[in-house]
Amino acid sequence: MVDIQKYLERQRKKIDRFLDQAVPNDQAAPKILYESMRYSLLGGGKRIRPILALAAAEAIGSQDDSILPFAAALEFIHTYSLVHDDLPAMDNDDFRRGRPTNHKTFGEGMAILAGDALLTMAFELCSNPTLEDCVPQDRQVQIIQELAVGSGHGGMVGGQVLDIQAENQDIDLGSLQTIHTFKTGRLIRASVRIGGIFGGATSSQLDSLTGYSEDIGLAFQIADDVLNMTGTREELGKDAGTDAKRGKKTYPTFYGIEGARDLAEQCIRRAITRLEEFDQKADPLRAIAEYIISRRN
Ligand code: IPE
Ligand code: IPE
Ligand code: MG
Ligand code: MG
Repeated sequence: MVDIQKYLERQRKKIDRFLDQAVPNDQAAPKILYESMRYSLLGGGKRIRPILALAAAEAIGSQDDSILPFAAALEFIHTYSLVHDDLPAMDNDDFRRGRPTNHKTFGEGMAILAGDALLTMAFELCSNPTLEDCVPQDRQVQIIQELAVGSGHGGMVGGQVLDIQAENQDIDLGSLQTIHTFKTGRLIRASVRIGGIFGGATSSQLDSLTGYSEDIGLAFQIADDVLNMTGTREELGKDAGTDAKRGKKTYPTFYGIEGARDLAEQCIRRAITRLEEFDQKADPLRAIAEYIISRRN
């Protein structure tokens, strides 16, 4: 059995150390840009996407730390998506990861630019030619492709477009599921697949990991919807009750809080069955799936 809290803490520390040394410190020029990037990237966040990449690689027998630039790139992209998601033109939120949102502290222009720099730096990190000593070049290219597809027009950005178009609209459940699949699911899918590709998964293993990632991705956003209704600012590090205020339909709108929780639970059970062909090295992935629906933030 995996002690999930200890596992997450250990992996989070490893990732935090890597992130900290990856971004120039705020004495470098332009100082304000690095301050703004570091403000959002460091000192908060569960790091679930990089942790999933590490755990997926582990499931197929790789515990090699040279995955860290790829895992970190996922967190760079995720952080950029949060900085932009919070902007007044999008969700207009004031609070994130336990402090004022980036644009509240640095202004909108700098928040947009810090987001841009985090996004592009993700690709700088994982296209580094020196990584060729640690991972075959064809895998490196495949990983970069996963990252681009998961985060761009056919992934997270595409989902964010659907999400803002759905505000105050009477959308059906199918549309809501599509929004969740893209805005949150695709980067989570990329995280797991990147771990698999890095570790040299067979195509059957990669298919199973992909199925797992799609199920946990949906459960992750359903849990986020539930927490938006049930959590507090102190617990979440971001404001609660904002979906209803902004006219966003979510899983609890359709199913109620208990119904949404049940659905997320079903996704997690399904995700775990997708890992049947894996041995105990996939236990961290199984435990992360359970954690996704039991988390309080
Ligand atoms: C929040 O993501 C936004 C969603 C896609 C649901 P996380 O819940 O992973 O946020 P952090 O990284 O821990 O702050
Ligand atoms: C976030 O979705 C999805 C992103 C791509 C950032 P939400 O807007 O529902 O997430 P929170 O609640 O602000 O973290
Ligand atoms: Mg949003
Ligand atoms: Mg938001």
